[in-house]
Amino acid sequence: MNNKNILIAYFSRKGNNYFGGNIVNLPIGNTEFAAEIIEKLTGGDLFKINPVKKYSEDYQKCTEEAKADLQANARPELTEYLDSIKNYDFILLGYPNWWGTLPMPVFTFLERYDLSGKTILPFCTHEGSGMGHSEHDIQRVCPQAIILKGLPIRGSSVKNAEKDIQRWLGESKVLMA
Ligand SMILES: Cc1cc2nc3c(=O)[nH]c(=O)nc-3n(C[C@H](O)[C@H](O)[C@H](O)COP(=O)(O)O)c2cc1C
Repeated sequence: MNNKNILIAYFSRKGNNYFGGNIVNLPIGNTEFAAEIIEKLTGGDLFKINPVKKYSEDYQKCTEEAKADLQANARPELTEYLDSIKNYDFILLGYPNWWGTLPMPVFTFLERYDLSGKTILPFCTHEGSGMGHSEHDIQRVCPQAIILKGLPIRGSSVKNAEKDIQRWLGESKVLMA
C-alpha cells in the first residue's frame, strides 16, 4: 500500500519509562512502536518530531523537564521540519500523554504549518489517563483542522494494539482514502 496523502507524525521518547507498573528501559518508545504499525497498515510517510534538546532518559528527570516546559508553555525547537505539508490530507498524529496533554514539541510541530482543512487523527499512548485533554488542545491550536476521534493505547500493551489500530483506521475511513 502506498498512500502518499497520509502523514504519520509522532513524538516518542525511548529510555526509562513505566511499563505495567515497573520502570524499564525501552529501546523503542511506545508511540514509535504504534507509529510503525500504522506505517505498515497505511503506507503513509513517517515523520519523527524530534526536539533539539533531548528530554532525559531518566524517567523522574524527564517528568520534571516536561512539567517545566508545560508550565512555561514552551515551543522547543525541532531538529527537522517538513518543507511542506500541502500534499497530505490526513495527519495521523502520535504522542505520549504527558501531564494530561501533548508533549510541547508536538505543539511546535502543529503551529509550524497551515493545517486548515486537514484531517487530524490523534493516537496517544498513556499509562492510565487515555487521551487526557489532548484532543481539545489540538483543536485549540488548529482551529481550522478537522480532528477525528483519537485512539488511546495503553503504552505497556502497544505490542498487542494492531487490531485496535486497524479498527480505528477503518472507522476513520483512512484505510479507504
Ligand atoms: C513526562 C511524562 C509524563 C507523563 N504523564 C502521564 C500522564 O499524565 N498520564 C498517563 O497516563 N501517562 C503519563 N506518562 C506515561 C506515558 O504517557 C506512557 O508511558 C507513554 O506510553 C510513553 O510513550 P513513549 O514511549 O512513546 O514516549 C508520562 C510519561 C512521561 C515521561
